[in-house]
Amino acid sequence: MTDHAKPNAPGLDSFWMPFTANRQFKAAPRMLASAEGMHYTSVDGRTVLDGTAGLWCVNAGHGRRQISSAVEKQLMTLDFAPTFQMGHPIAFEFAERLAEIAPGDGENKLDRIFFTGSGSESVDTALKIAIAYQRSIGQGTRTRLIGRERGYHGVGFGGISVGGLVNNRRVFPQIPADHLRHTFDLERNAYVKGQPEYGMELADDLERMVALHGAETIAACIVEPVAGSTGVLPPPKGYLERLLAICSKHGILLIFDEVITGFGRLGSPFAANYFNITPDLITTAKGITNGSIPMGAVFAARKVHDALMHGPDGQIELFHGYTYSGHPTACAAGIATLDIYRDESLLTRAADVQDAWHDAIHSLKGVPHIIDIRTIGLIAGIELSTRNGEVGKRAYDVFVDCFEKGLLIRVTGDIIALSPPLIIEKSQISDIVSILGDALKRVA
Ligand SMILES: Cc1ncc(COP(=O)(O)O)c(C=O)c1O
Repeated sequence: MTDHAKPNAPGLDSFWMPFTANRQFKAAPRMLASAEGMHYTSVDGRTVLDGTAGLWCVNAGHGRRQISSAVEKQLMTLDFAPTFQMGHPIAFEFAERLAEIAPGDGENKLDRIFFTGSGSESVDTALKIAIAYQRSIGQGTRTRLIGRERGYHGVGFGGISVGGLVNNRRVFPQIPADHLRHTFDLERNAYVKGQPEYGMELADDLERMVALHGAETIAACIVEPVAGSTGVLPPPKGYLERLLAICSKHGILLIFDEVITGFGRLGSPFAANYFNITPDLITTAKGITNGSIPMGAVFAARKVHDALMHGPDGQIELFHGYTYSGHPTACAAGIATLDIYRDESLLTRAADVQDAWHDAIHSLKGVPHIIDIRTIGLIAGIELSTRNGEVGKRAYDVFVDCFEKGLLIRVTGDIIALSPPLIIEKSQISDIVSILGDALKRVA
């Protein structure tokens, strides 16, 4: 008898699960009960190696006591307080701590922090800030947004409009946006460690958008520096540099969506540091609290923030915010998380393990069904051939097989995405490769 079927186990009907095939899942559930370090324990007592840092968020590993004690203390001191026309010190303290590690210099430093509750909220917040900024500098016609095919920017109406994943878009209306082509190029760029050689010229799509729509209608261009949810697409060499140059030339703000790359995933605090490119806005979430308490933050360049600080003193400068913007408990979790990242050098640890990671993952080349492997920082995308035209079926079978054998992976379509906690040891990298390799040999 599986645990969920035991007496007193909760029924499965009430929870309408997100991004899940509900009926399939509830017929054969996969349930996690607890977690510590690099591992989950399933409800039936099996140890499961976390190959995905939960959902790209538990960068410092699970069960960090420092975070839980900070959260408990904060809940007993000040559980909640509003941040609309009111303040509490811990929100300012956390913003200041984030500002210290923000990329950029001078007025281009992204050290003005707007708190949100999630990645989706960070994205919609950044898009609104970009449009408000343009208006505040006398560019009120700039309301169009540019995203990219295969981009994922969460599930708000702004995020799906600039996003480029068809299943997230087809049912819902959108706000005015256009899309650069994606950078996936299997023929020229297969089996690459780090940034692929070919595709820099795809950034010129932004020039085509300017020619098509007029620069004076475009507020911002948003991209994931490394596209994650679509199945791991690192940017071609020179691509992001060219995108920045075109944005600067035409007065278009550049937004990096760093919801997965923020907080050490590439071996530097942000992808902006890794690629040495300073955008105007950065969206974050996930690793900001090590996944422990929901939270997000938009990092804004000082010049963007300052442009909005005008008008009469008593005027609210940006009509935007969430009940939970700067939630005290989330801030406590965030500060404890930053302490751990600093004390254990986790924001740069991926740089130390990435060679071992790349070599181990690329050793899977030649294993059945694999048609491409892409790695960057502590991320891997492993692309499988599609079985009988049924997209995603093979990868799903691999996912279930891995879970049964003690490894959590993430699949999207027929691509496996790996993004383990940044505390991973070399022996655990080997475990991932061996469980995954065996699963691939087993599935049809
Ligand atoms: C790049 C990117 N942006 C935004 C989001 C949305 O974040 P959330 O699920 O916290 O709303 C995600 C989530 O995976 C993401 O990967």
